[in-house]
Amino acid sequence: MSSVSDVRAELLRRSVPSSQPVEIELALGERSYPIVVGRGTSARVEEFVGSSSSKVAVVTQAGIPHTLQLEREVLLIQIDDGESAKSLATVQSVSSQLSRHEFGRHDTIVALGGGVVTDVAGFVAATYHRGVRYINVASSLLAMVDAAIGGKTGVNLPEGKNLVGAFWQPSAVICDLDLLDTLPIREWACGFGEIAKYRFLGVDDLVELGLQEQVERSVRTKVEVVARDEREGSARALLNYGHTLAHALETQSRLNNVDHDIRHGEAVAVGLVFAARLAYRLGRIPLERVAEHQRIVDSFGLSYTLPSWADRAVLLHLMRRDKKADGDLTFVLDGSGGLEVVRNVPERIVVEVLEES
Ligand SMILES: NC(=O)c1ccc[n+]([C@@H]2O[C@H](COP(=O)([O-])OP(=O)(O)OC[C@H]3O[C@@H](n4cnc5c(N)ncnc54)[C@H](O)[C@@H]3O)[C@@H](O)[C@H]2O)c1
Repeated sequence: MSSVSDVRAELLRRSVPSSQPVEIELALGERSYPIVVGRGTSARVEEFVGSSSSKVAVVTQAGIPHTLQLEREVLLIQIDDGESAKSLATVQSVSSQLSRHEFGRHDTIVALGGGVVTDVAGFVAATYHRGVRYINVASSLLAMVDAAIGGKTGVNLPEGKNLVGAFWQPSAVICDLDLLDTLPIREWACGFGEIAKYRFLGVDDLVELGLQEQVERSVRTKVEVVARDEREGSARALLNYGHTLAHALETQSRLNNVDHDIRHGEAVAVGLVFAARLAYRLGRIPLERVAEHQRIVDSFGLSYTLPSWADRAVLLHLMRRDKKADGDLTFVLDGSGGLEVVRNVPERIVVEVLEES
């Protein structure tokens, strides 16, 4: 099996340096916006700032290189790192800084960062002055293929992840692949977990493609799903493929006080193969399809076995509390007609599949 570093090196080797950036529209009527994918594209940020904005607030984090060229007065706001920074306290701090600098209704927020920054800055944009314009400049692979797109914004509560939030669409999303030059290797693993997921949402095999093409195809898939179901009434729930076990694993890792012992994309990789095994046990897919899940996850250098610290009883309890579930065990599962939400999966089968994972 290749390591994530090997996969990244191979991906960059396969990339064509002269690839032209692409612009993909997320069609949501008057809330439609472009997603720009390619090298050097953050140089275009100014063109998406509102014409009536006199100020721009760049919300970011300390380790993220800031090279944005903006022609207005810029207020730089740094937030802390990690899930604990995705909090109402951070929202209050950012909002207060905006207010102290007389940031107005027509000004623009630029979120420059990974999913933590885009979720927090997006939620501030949704609520400050009852809603201001914002642009996502995604700087992590995961934000480029997932978090920065689709207008789901929000923060965590001590009681759980993403419990307070709003749907608020950005005016543009920029995925500047040059920003990935400084991204730590473990964060590449996170992005790979989500890209692997798209393979089962109808994207052809991505493994042989270069970086820009993989990001572009993933973005196109997310855009299609969000355009069909902006507020997660139906199709958008399928983007949570592999996430029921993944979220339980992430929560358990936090409960164990081993935060970051498993990262989101790594947990999704485990969750994808678990979901495939579950679908097989329920007679929904043949064994070869499970092997295909394993092959795809493997090809990104990710592991699909449960970590040694995983407590299956705790995971079962946490999966019952999943947002999709109503106290029962609900999963997005593969089947002959593709992915669908399956409710009331028998506990006995879930336990057995957990035992063999
Ligand atoms: N809103 C959505 O639809 C959605 C979808 C998926 C995930 N999310 C959220 O996204 C978050 C995870 O996002 P993430 O994986 O990007 O993690 P993250 O935002 O925590 O970023 C990971 C780390 O990489 C650093 N980083 C980011 N870009 C960098 C760069 N170019 N150079 C150097 N360092 C860089 C960050 O500072 C951070 O330390 C979670 O909170 C998750 O809930 C939201």
